[in-house]
Amino acid sequence: METIVVDHPLARVRLTAIRDARTDSPTFRAALWDLTRMLVYEATRAAPVTETKVMTPVAKTTGYELANPPLLVPVLRAGLGMAEASMALLPSAQMGFVGLARDEETLQPRSYMESLPESLEGRPVFILDPMLATGGSLLHAVQLLTTRGADEITCLCVLAAPEGITRLEESGIPLRLVTASIDERLNDSGFIVPGLGDAGDRQFGAV
Ligand code: PRP
Repeated sequence: METIVVDHPLARVRLTAIRDARTDSPTFRAALWDLTRMLVYEATRAAPVTETKVMTPVAKTTGYELANPPLLVPVLRAGLGMAEASMALLPSAQMGFVGLARDEETLQPRSYMESLPESLEGRPVFILDPMLATGGSLLHAVQLLTTRGADEITCLCVLAAPEGITRLEESGIPLRLVTASIDERLNDSGFIVPGLGDAGDRQFGAV
């Protein structure tokens, strides 16, 4: 699996804000918005473009448009905080949705919502989820996409645990991961250490 770590000073500053247990929800959401844009920026670095023509106030010159914008798939709830920020950089992108909740005892993901196009053949897909912990949720989302024919999947995760990365690699599914940090490990409760706590709760409140 190709893994890209966005190790930029501005990303580190936002990461510090969302890790900080004292950060309130509005500040957390703002930092997540900024980090998402940085992840999308890196994830689209090699995106193919087609040439167009553009008339400036002075002269005609070459312009560009994305040849094949990705389908954006936020994983609810926590991925919702990455959806609008991604759309802001990719306004021509379509969006699908997957709702998953991790059972706190078994750590297994439970699917409660799927809204995806029938066929994803030939379409790049960006999965948006702030956290890759055990990898169960992301793998579930990936499998929903591959059964629809997706074969160019990029996972955008603010934080990734080594255990989750290994699980995705062991799946054998060709994937790319773009993250702002590979953290140390998971604790006994399946939380990323040092991590940021629960990204859904910190954005939207505990349920
Ligand atoms: C969190 C997070 C990921 C998942 C990561 O969601 O947003 O989706 O857990 O854990 P995993 O890699 O071990 O599967 P959660 O299930 O807490 O739901 P929420 O987004 O509704 O808070």
